[in-house]
Amino acid sequence: MSTVLELKNLQVGLRQRQSETPLVKCVSFAVAPGECLGILGESGSGKSMSVKAAMGLLDSSFHISGSALFQGEELLGKSAEELRRLRGGRVGIILQNPMTCFDPIYRIGDQIAETFAAHNSWDKAEIRTRSLSMLEKMRIRSPEEVLEKYPHQLSGGMLQRVMIGIATAMAPELLIADEPTTAIDAITQFEILNELLKIKHEQKVAMLFISHDLNAISKVADRIVVLNQGQVVDEGDFHHILYHATDPYTRLLVEKRAAVMRQYRVVLKKAGAEHA
Ligand SMILES: Nc1ncnc2c1ncn2[C@@H]1O[C@H](COP(=O)(O)OP(=O)(O)OP(=O)(O)O)[C@@H](O)[C@H]1O
Ligand SMILES: [Mg+2]
Repeated sequence: MSTVLELKNLQVGLRQRQSETPLVKCVSFAVAPGECLGILGESGSGKSMSVKAAMGLLDSSFHISGSALFQGEELLGKSAEELRRLRGGRVGIILQNPMTCFDPIYRIGDQIAETFAAHNSWDKAEIRTRSLSMLEKMRIRSPEEVLEKYPHQLSGGMLQRVMIGIATAMAPELLIADEPTTAIDAITQFEILNELLKIKHEQKVAMLFISHDLNAISKVADRIVVLNQGQVVDEGDFHHILYHATDPYTRLLVEKRAAVMRQYRVVLKKAGAEHA
């Protein structure tokens, strides 16, 4: 199987005066072109740390070892500049809270333009045309007006769409979505998941979808890796996770989901009886 990203025995430790606290103990997984790998796990299990370590988003207070191969090339040890160029270019990253990813004092249009200019030699006019078509593609109404707005003038869902638009505009080979739907309401969550599914089908990109929401993961992931305390504790498709997961936290998520589904069926039945 050809892989776009492969982590092998990745370890991350927090350097302290006398010792080192292990945060990610030994994580291995791989994602292929056109595949969406879901990374599931409770808060603090090491989901974000693993990808941040691979993508050069951790500072020198963290000690990283093992291997992270992108298209067969080792990322660990690459210079900060090389990794920065990779991010936003061949690797698109969408983060949990869109508000923290935009600078509050610059207009949306300027922030999109800055990213586009960093990765291309487009002139001003071309950047504007591409920005507008990117916003239209993300189904954002009145794109001209949106370019003039500041981040706080847009809703969380709109900002998330802009971020997905920026992350996918350079046709990345890998798209990392770290809890992309946690900070937004259920309806917008549904739309954002559909947007990601569309990108997955149209662009044949390899995708890492990080979440502690089993329902959201089940909608987009072809395969799921479960992390617990910095280690992979389960791996398989959604069916495997539903029926054969052994990790207690995963079982808890599965049972919680089953209880919600049962409740939903009861409500539907009642509504049906009232209509009859
Ligand atoms: N900046 C930091 N400095 C020190 N320790 C950190 C830092 N960020 C995270 N950690 C620790 O690293 C471990 C893994 O954290 P990580 O952020 O990867 O969790 P996560 O699975 O992404 O959780 P969440 O679902 O809450 O985002 C946790 O024990 C966390 O407390
Ligand atoms: Mg996280």
